[in-house]
Amino acid sequence: MAQEDVFKKLVAHCKEYGFVFPSSEIYDGLGAVYDYGQNGVELKNNIKKYWWDAMVKLNDNVVGLDSAIFMHPTIWKASGHVDAFNDPLIDNKDSKKRYRADVLIEEQIAKFDDKINKEIAKAQKKFGDAFDEAKFRETNPNVLREQAKRDALHERYSKAMNANDLNELRQIIIDEEIVCPISGTKNWTEVRQFNLMFTTEMGSTADGSMKIYLRPETAQGIFVNFLNVQKTGRMKIPFGIAQIGKAFRNEIVARQFIFRMREFEQMEMQFFVRPGEEMKWFEYWKAFRMKWHQALGMGAENYRFHDHDKLAHYANAATDIEFRMPFGFKEVEGIHSRTNFDLSQHAKYSGKKIEYFDPELNQSYTPYVIETSIGVDRMFLSILAGAYCEEQVGEGDMRVVLRLPAVLAPVKVAVMPLVKKDGLPEKAREILNSMKLEFNCQYDEKDSIGKRYRRQDAIGTPFCITVDHQTLEDNTVTIRYRDTMEQERIKVDDVYGIISKNVNNHELFKKLL
Ligand code: GAP
Repeated sequence: MAQEDVFKKLVAHCKEYGFVFPSSEIYDGLGAVYDYGQNGVELKNNIKKYWWDAMVKLNDNVVGLDSAIFMHPTIWKASGHVDAFNDPLIDNKDSKKRYRADVLIEEQIAKFDDKINKEIAKAQKKFGDAFDEAKFRETNPNVLREQAKRDALHERYSKAMNANDLNELRQIIIDEEIVCPISGTKNWTEVRQFNLMFTTEMGSTADGSMKIYLRPETAQGIFVNFLNVQKTGRMKIPFGIAQIGKAFRNEIVARQFIFRMREFEQMEMQFFVRPGEEMKWFEYWKAFRMKWHQALGMGAENYRFHDHDKLAHYANAATDIEFRMPFGFKEVEGIHSRTNFDLSQHAKYSGKKIEYFDPELNQSYTPYVIETSIGVDRMFLSILAGAYCEEQVGEGDMRVVLRLPAVLAPVKVAVMPLVKKDGLPEKAREILNSMKLEFNCQYDEKDSIGKRYRRQDAIGTPFCITVDHQTLEDNTVTIRYRDTMEQERIKVDDVYGIISKNVNNHELFKKLL
C-alpha cells in the first residue's frame, strides 16, 4: 500500500476508534486544532507518564514544574521570539494559497531523495543479497547525478536560510520551477516574514489592557523560574527542570494531521550545566533521549538523528530525533545546546541577577543549558504510525491491529464473558474489578468473540481475557495475545501478574540505565 494511503487510513482510524477528532467538528472544524477522544487521551497520558517518569523519577537531579501559559510579555522580547520567531511566507497569486518558502524548498530536496531511494530499491530487488548499497551510491550514474543536484540545492538553501535572505529563497523557488500544488502555476509573491505567536489581551480596556502572548514553547516558563527552583530545591548544578504543557503557534502550513498543529503540547527539560561542559551534556542527553525512544521497541531503524543546518538564535549545537512517518523521516524531538542565552537575556531585561554560586569552583556564573524538547502530539503520531498494521488472517479475512507498546496502550486488558448468561458476566466483572484500579480495563459482552477480539486489536489492547463455563469449574480463563493472536489457558490468579509485568514502565526503564 502506498504510504499516502497508509496515512489516510491512519487518520480515518483515529477518528473511527476515538483517538483523535477534528476540533469543533459540528461547526466544520478549526484549522489544525484537534481533540483527543476516549482512547486518544489514554494513549496521550501514557506517553506523558513514560516521559515524566523517565526524566523526573529516573534522574535524581531532574525536578518538575508547571508554569502558567500566560507570562509577562517582556519574556518574549527577551527570549527573541517577538523579533525572530518568524516563518518565511510566500503566496501563490493565482490560488491565493499561502506557503512556507522553506517548506516548499525542503519538499523539493525530498523529491531528489525519493528519486535516489527508488533507484536503490530497484537495484536491491534486482541484485538481492549480493547488493552493496554503499558501492551503488558511489558508482551509479543516475544516483550520482540526482545526489549532485540535491547537494547543490541543499547548500544554496542552507546559505539563504542562515543569511535570512528572503530574495534568495524566492529565487530558489523560481529557479527550481516549483509550482503551487493547487493552481499549478509559478506566479509567486515576494517572501515575507510572519511571526508565529498568538496574542491576546489581559485586563479590561478601561484599565488599559496589556497585550500578552500565548506561549510558543514551555521552555521560557522554566528559565524564569530557574532561581525559584534552584533556591527552594537547593539544587546543585548540573540539574534539570522538566515541564509538560500546552504551546501555541500560528502555523502557516498546518497540515499532516497532528504533526503540525496550532495548539499542541510539549514535554521539555532544561538541564543547567557549568559553562564549558555543555557539549559533554549535549552528547549525554542525545544518547539518553534516543534510548528512551528505542526502548519502546518500534524498531531502531525507524529513528535517526538529524543535525541542524541552521541553528536557532539561542543555540550552539542542535539535533533532531526523527521518526520514519508515512510521509518520510520527520522531527519528533529537538535537542539543543542553548548556551547561557536565555538566562542572560532574562537577567538583562528583568534587571535581576540570575546566577549560580558554584561551591566547588567558589565562583558565580550564568549556567549553560541543554534542552530536550519533544511534542506530545508528534510522539503520539509516530507511535500510531509505527503501530498501525493491516494483516491477512486466514482465508480472505484481515484485521487492523495497533501494535502499540503495551505500556502505552490505552486499554491494557479486555475482559469478556463467552456468553451473556450462566453467571459468566458476573465472573468476568469480578475479574475486571480486581484489576481496574491498577490498569485501564474494558468489559465487552456484545457480538461474537471474534468480533470482540478485532475491536480490541483495532485500539491496540495487548491482552484479552475470556471467561467461559470451564472458568466456573476450575478458575481458569483464556488469555489471548494481541500480536500473535495465540491463546493460552491460565489460572485466574495469574492474570494480574502477567499483565502487570508487561504494561509496567519498569522493564523499559532498565534499558535506559
Ligand atoms: N523549546 C524549543 C522548541 O520549542 P521546537 O523544535 O520549535 O523547539 C520542539 O519544538 C518540539 O515541539 C518539536 O520537536 C515538535 O515535536 C513539537 N512541535 C513544534 N511545533 C509543533 C506544532 N506546530 N505542532 C505539533 N508539535 C510541534
